[in-house]
Amino acid sequence: MNKSPIGIFDSGIGGVTIFNSIKKLLPKENIIYLSDNLHSPYGNKSIETIKKLSQKNTEWLIEKGCKLIVVACNTATTNSVFELRSNFNLPFVGIEPAIKSAAMKTVTGKVGVLATKGTLSSNLFNSTSTYHASNIEIIEENGDGLVELIEAGIFEGVEIENILHKHLDFMITKKIDYLVLGCTHYPLINKVLLKILPKSVKIIDSAEAVAKQTKALLINHKIENKSNQGEYSFYYNGDSASLNKVLNHKFEINKI
Ligand code: DGL
Repeated sequence: MNKSPIGIFDSGIGGVTIFNSIKKLLPKENIIYLSDNLHSPYGNKSIETIKKLSQKNTEWLIEKGCKLIVVACNTATTNSVFELRSNFNLPFVGIEPAIKSAAMKTVTGKVGVLATKGTLSSNLFNSTSTYHASNIEIIEENGDGLVELIEAGIFEGVEIENILHKHLDFMITKKIDYLVLGCTHYPLINKVLLKILPKSVKIIDSAEAVAKQTKALLINHKIENKSNQGEYSFYYNGDSASLNKVLNHKFEINKI
């Protein structure tokens, strides 16, 4: 069991940002990554469809022998993690926009959240916001159009800049001091985000917190791998180009 892999899934390449932080914190763990990019993006799909896809991805990773599943997608977590936890008998780590952390740090009392429609409309996101951020102003923005470009392997350039201006200009004029990246794809366009945001705005994502939570669960369940250097396998079911690009062609990837 301890040598069994950790399974990570996302609607595409966004979860690679989570894979990187888990690999860094837990270098001995074997990892299987599943990019369900045939069904990308998840952000505008119905709750029922997101639940079905998450269920299918989990079943596939369990068949591959995974000991723990990381739902490396805010949209899938906020719409389906409760069902996953009750349907499968293994530990899950989910990812949610880091509202709590931003609410604790903000000085202006104004925080921007960029996430998908599916995440922003979910009960989990709304109850987290009400609970942790009721005394600050949250400016939410659905990052429409971004995941499609990122999945096409476009991480910078005028198209991304124009979309980001459309989504961020308003919250910048409102004087946010933190921007929460509520989608695992968005750290891949960090360069453009830094170009557009004033220096006073700090970016927060949840990748490190997810890696720490993964470690804590492995320890709690006594399923850490202490013996070898981790091995990594990558699978996708759509097109291969963007996964190869984000991995810098350093890993072999397999079509399913
Ligand atoms: N990476 C995703 C997330 O964190 C999914 C985005 C999408 O497929 O729309 O929400």
